[in-house]
Amino acid sequence: NKGGYEHYMQKEIHEQPESLTTTMRGRLIQGGSCKAKTVLLGGLKDHMKTIRRSRRIVFVGCGTSYNAALASRPILEELSGVPVTMEIASDLVDRQGPIYREDTAVFVSQSGETADTLLALEYALENGALCVGITNTVGSAIARKTHCGVHINAGAEIGVASTKAYTSQIVVMAILALAVGGDTISNQARREAIVDGLYDLPSKVREVLKLDNEMKDLAKQLIAEQSLLVFGRGYNYATALEGALKVKEVSLMHSEGMLAGEMKHGPLALVDENLPIIVIATHDACFSKQQSVIQQLHARRGRLIVLCSEGDAASVCPGESCRVIEVPQVEDCLQPVVNIVPLQLLAYHLTVLRGHNVDQPRNLAKSVTTQ
Ligand code: UD1
Ligand code: F6R
Repeated sequence: NKGGYEHYMQKEIHEQPESLTTTMRGRLIQGGSCKAKTVLLGGLKDHMKTIRRSRRIVFVGCGTSYNAALASRPILEELSGVPVTMEIASDLVDRQGPIYREDTAVFVSQSGETADTLLALEYALENGALCVGITNTVGSAIARKTHCGVHINAGAEIGVASTKAYTSQIVVMAILALAVGGDTISNQARREAIVDGLYDLPSKVREVLKLDNEMKDLAKQLIAEQSLLVFGRGYNYATALEGALKVKEVSLMHSEGMLAGEMKHGPLALVDENLPIIVIATHDACFSKQQSVIQQLHARRGRLIVLCSEGDAASVCPGESCRVIEVPQVEDCLQPVVNIVPLQLLAYHLTVLRGHNVDQPRNLAKSVTTQ
């Protein structure tokens, strides 16, 4: 049931205010006798001590689920103080990389059935790590085989391109960061700002969905391009990777997400007046660095599309040649949830305009159960 939409991907993009609300239901606690703003993840409460004491947290996933974990890494490191490392599931298995008893390994998977992620889980179980699942599918292999975990409760996702599961995964991992971080006086203000930000997030996503027509218009401009680059950093390095993944997998246009800090170490050679480049420059601690990236790209006559916070258009755009997409500003660790939405819309419209199958991209399957 596409609920009046033409495609599942379109429906799933537009239902994110609701799916995010469902994901958070019962997990944010505000008020009560102590008036503290806090969180509850029922599936992890008996394991929280072990997670806090672990020597390292290792995120494991593939594709979009890996990108969601990458978006959540900075806030988990900040609030927990535990080192967080990233593993693409197949690469961990290929390398037989070190996993120890003192590790907490977190397996992120929408379907809960991805073969690469399952193999990595079996490997981590053999090595004695505490294994935590973050999945959308109750009763899935990953939900059953992990020691504990969290269901993201985003509702069934049918379009092959993952959209609402991505934003719900990030929200669950932000709540995970709050849970692992625990209450300390020093981080109280930060924690409260994040909890307030989570409450407001569905309405901010509803606002950013109003960019639909603007993104369709941008898609019309990009329809015949061969290639598209996306630069991000900090919290939004993941947004760059995920935005590019969405564009390539459904619209079949070559697209790469890149860490803006690496620009001078190679990618800058690609810049000319023809190649479209999206730069994510919303307002956070990396903002001034992104402003200087934009200036350097502009100096090489780069064809820029800048995603920035509302009100920042004048300070990010060096010239009239640059196109600006303004999004509402939210707490930095939640900004990836808002920022991915226009890129999901762009990927969707590019695909429809280019005449490709949105919900069933060629060569891809929703659940990759083979290696
Ligand atoms: C649970 C109920 C939910 C109910 C809520 C009320 C289920 C599936 N969830 O949600 O319907 O409204 O209590 O208190 O019955 N798990 C794993 N690996 C995973 C994911 C989950 O082991 O990858 C385990 C968890 O550790 C937990 C159980 O599955 O034991 C349910 O997880 P989750 O649905 O996230 O728990 P609650 O949010 O407490
Ligand atoms: C991209 C996409 C894939 C999946 C990947 C992992 O839109 O859908 O990259 O994210 O195959 O799938 P799950 O999350 O089910 O393990």
